[in-house]
Amino acid sequence: MPELPGGFLWGVSTSAYQIEGATTEDGRGTSIWDTFSATPGRIVDGTTGAVATDSYHRFPEDIALMRELGVGAYRFSVAWPRVQPDGIGPANAAGLDYYERLVDELLDAGIAPVATLFHWDLPQTLQDRGGWLDRETAHRFGEYAALVSRRLGDRVRMWITLNEPFVHMSLGYALGTHAPGEQLLFEAFPVAHHQLLGHGLAVAALRDHSGSPVAIANNYSPARPVPGSAADLAAAAAYDALHNRVFTDPLLGLGYPEGAADLSVVRDGDLDVIATPIDALGVNYYNPTGVRGPEDGSPLPFEMVPLDDYPTTAFGWPVAPDGLRELLVTLHGRYGRQLPPIYITESGCAYDDVVSADGTCEDPDRIAYLDGHLAALRDAQADGVDVRGYFVWSLLDNWEWAEGFTKRFGLVHVDFESLTRTPKSSFAWLRERIRDHR
Ligand code: FCB
Repeated sequence: MPELPGGFLWGVSTSAYQIEGATTEDGRGTSIWDTFSATPGRIVDGTTGAVATDSYHRFPEDIALMRELGVGAYRFSVAWPRVQPDGIGPANAAGLDYYERLVDELLDAGIAPVATLFHWDLPQTLQDRGGWLDRETAHRFGEYAALVSRRLGDRVRMWITLNEPFVHMSLGYALGTHAPGEQLLFEAFPVAHHQLLGHGLAVAALRDHSGSPVAIANNYSPARPVPGSAADLAAAAAYDALHNRVFTDPLLGLGYPEGAADLSVVRDGDLDVIATPIDALGVNYYNPTGVRGPEDGSPLPFEMVPLDDYPTTAFGWPVAPDGLRELLVTLHGRYGRQLPPIYITESGCAYDDVVSADGTCEDPDRIAYLDGHLAALRDAQADGVDVRGYFVWSLLDNWEWAEGFTKRFGLVHVDFESLTRTPKSSFAWLRERIRDHR
């Protein structure tokens, strides 16, 4: 039975649409992100992921970088439209061949492949039928999980079903700043339920074809009431339920938090499928969220406000390592023995990194960021939270969704014209940390 390497797992994360490029090669179908990014006004710099970091062709170079870094695992995502161009029917063999080459080369390099099955790039044909608003998409996702795991189930060392279903629902279907660009506000709730149902169906399919652990990668953000009136506290609780609990309580058999879900889409048996046991919980953490009571007449039960007490990244996100510890301790306290082991599946920051004339790229802010978050992780471990790994977002600067190429999250700088990779100083720093740890 394939196993993850023992001990604390160091890794890096990426996702298909953000790095692969090659969007029309080898029979790949169109995804919602191809459509969305080609629509004028959606992406700040007007770019698409058509080339991205060209990792579809350059993955051997990327694997060589990971080997140099010394990570034990690589979390990448499989592009559903490469495997099933229309999201239904038999597999496109060329799509699976690509991921097989990637996985085999990782294993040859001694790096455990951790595959995410859905990192937001839904086949456009499924979107045309409603996307995740349509219950059928959950069933399609289960079938797709079976196709991928039938081919790769003996070699992928850990599976992640979905990436950040909360963010996909809220930015993609509620607010419309991400693909597919729907602005349904609370009417977007079926997207939560159908993703979770798809997750449960995928877990079962993965179990049929693979002995490797199965997880989901949720995005979590501690809700901080600002300034702290009773209305602010209530708003923070409402935000916490929506962001942090809707996508976790039902996974762990607790059903949806009261008042945070539209139960009309929930059918008999769904909650059992959603609660199919998982082996680990992936935690993506970037920042806490400031929340206050809403203005009169607001359609939302909360309002988001900036948190002033923290420095910010180039994305404007607060740098708050204490939020990571708080979050881990809260999950541990909230779910107790129901909580499976945790892997931090994304943690990282964007800064405006440049390559100097001497060819180096200094990113001291990222080093401080990673150092602070690793210390927070150790504190949470000392508090009894079972955290087994840390994956940095990201290996490479890449195509950051609606921000296009304007936000650099990599340990490795990428020149988006020449596609030249230049490891930043944080890369060397992390390499030493990993070595020391070993
Ligand atoms: C996460 C996404 C990832 C990347 C980082 C910065 O929400 O999962 O693809 O965009 O944020």
